[in-house]
Amino acid sequence: MATERSAPAAWVSLLLLLLLVVVAAGCCAGAADVDEQMRRGGGRRGSRRRRAADVMVPITILNSAVHKGAVCMDGTPPAFHLDPGSGAGNRSWVVNLEGGGWCNNARTCRFRTGSRHGSSHFMERRIAFTGIMSAAPADNPDFHSWNRVKIRYCDSASFAGDTYDEALKLHFRGQRIWEAAIEHLLAAGMASAKQVLLTGCSAGGLAAILHCDQLRALFPDGATTVKCLADGGLFLDAVDVAGGRSLRSYYGDVVAMQKVAPNLPKTCTDHLDATSCFFPQNIIDGIKTPIFLLNAAYDVWQIEQSLAPNSADPSGAWRACKFNRSACNASQLKFLQGFRDQMVAAVRSFSESGSNGLFINSCFAHCQSELTATWNNEAGGSPALHNKGIAKSVGDWYFGRAQVKAIDCPYPCDKTCRHII
Ligand SMILES: *[C@@H]1O[C@H](CO)[C@@H](O)[C@H](O)[C@H]1NC(C)=O
Ligand SMILES: *[C@@H]1O[C@H](CO)[C@@H](O)[C@H](O)[C@H]1NC(C)=O
Ligand SMILES: *[C@@H]1O[C@H](CO)[C@@H](O)[C@H](O)[C@H]1NC(C)=O
Repeated sequence: MATERSAPAAWVSLLLLLLLVVVAAGCCAGAADVDEQMRRGGGRRGSRRRRAADVMVPITILNSAVHKGAVCMDGTPPAFHLDPGSGAGNRSWVVNLEGGGWCNNARTCRFRTGSRHGSSHFMERRIAFTGIMSAAPADNPDFHSWNRVKIRYCDSASFAGDTYDEALKLHFRGQRIWEAAIEHLLAAGMASAKQVLLTGCSAGGLAAILHCDQLRALFPDGATTVKCLADGGLFLDAVDVAGGRSLRSYYGDVVAMQKVAPNLPKTCTDHLDATSCFFPQNIIDGIKTPIFLLNAAYDVWQIEQSLAPNSADPSGAWRACKFNRSACNASQLKFLQGFRDQMVAAVRSFSESGSNGLFINSCFAHCQSELTATWNNEAGGSPALHNKGIAKSVGDWYFGRAQVKAIDCPYPCDKTCRHII
């Protein structure tokens, strides 16, 4: 009887074990995603279930970068994930710069060396490529067959700092990481690319703007189309709810601490201070490479961290509103409408260039290109402007199929939003 049972029992154990492995993987991947969304200041209530079509892409540690001084904050090598292109996409590249905030002082920078944002020791060995990074044609119609690479973010100044802090023993080598990673990719085939799209969201969206002309300069013969997409990267130099400029003060610390100034666009630093030149509104008009700005007009990260950070809201009067748009009263909504108007004003002259693109939707969101639900939901239901979703809008701009200069009417007119607060 015992022997009769042993075979099925073994099967049951194996099945249970498999189930456990699947559940465990699901749990931890899910937890990482929630963490990712917290860090970005949004998406806490959005679900991010992994789908069968989402490919898990392994990490490549770029050891050869170390001798160039291109290292994460703790001195570990930088890293990227590459999903090679195929067929018609084999000579086209999406280069994605990972986002994830910044750090501005000894405490916050040291803290990040114990996380994937400061050390490749802590980076996931495999990550899901979704949205604009997806290999699934239905999810990502224009770029699915391209070589798609995500350069991991471990410097804390949008890949633009360059110094070593002797007292803190911290490396701030974002610019070197950018250069070493791109050099590696050029040697790995990108040098003969027909098409390149530099992209990123949040701090990575800012990085895509900062490095856009630098990338194009590496393809001097004009045989390669280079364009840049900044998602959720339009951080405004805005007045906060206390009348100060919280983000300007924060950026001032980042720029000074990490020695960012020499790597900012000269067309800006030749007439403005370095901190101002870390704000896209002061650099986008001077960039020659075509850029697409994708941004929510009610950018949740900016509402929570730039307009109403705790330091500017000591009484907590904004606490309910900044985490729940339905809890905003009339005067708070008016303040947020003012922020939206500043964003629209900031892109006015940028939008006059025929080669630039825009998609500023009136949603409470932050980062819309890397989640399939917002990038291109097969079942419909993705954010749209003029009946055109984000993936189609970006594709139309990239390939010159149509001009895309879409600016939404003020909240709450848009019924296609995927609000995250
Ligand atoms: C890219 O694809 C073309 C056909 O589409 C093929 O001729 C070429 O060999 C491929 N190149 C690489 C590097 O795979
Ligand atoms: C709306 O909230 C603000 C706090 O930001 C408060 O000062 C104001 O009194 C409120 N207005 C109304 C009409 O409740
Ligand atoms: C958001 O605020 C509204 C209005 O105050 C409230 O009815 C609703 O329960 C809040 N939602 C959450 C998730 O807290």
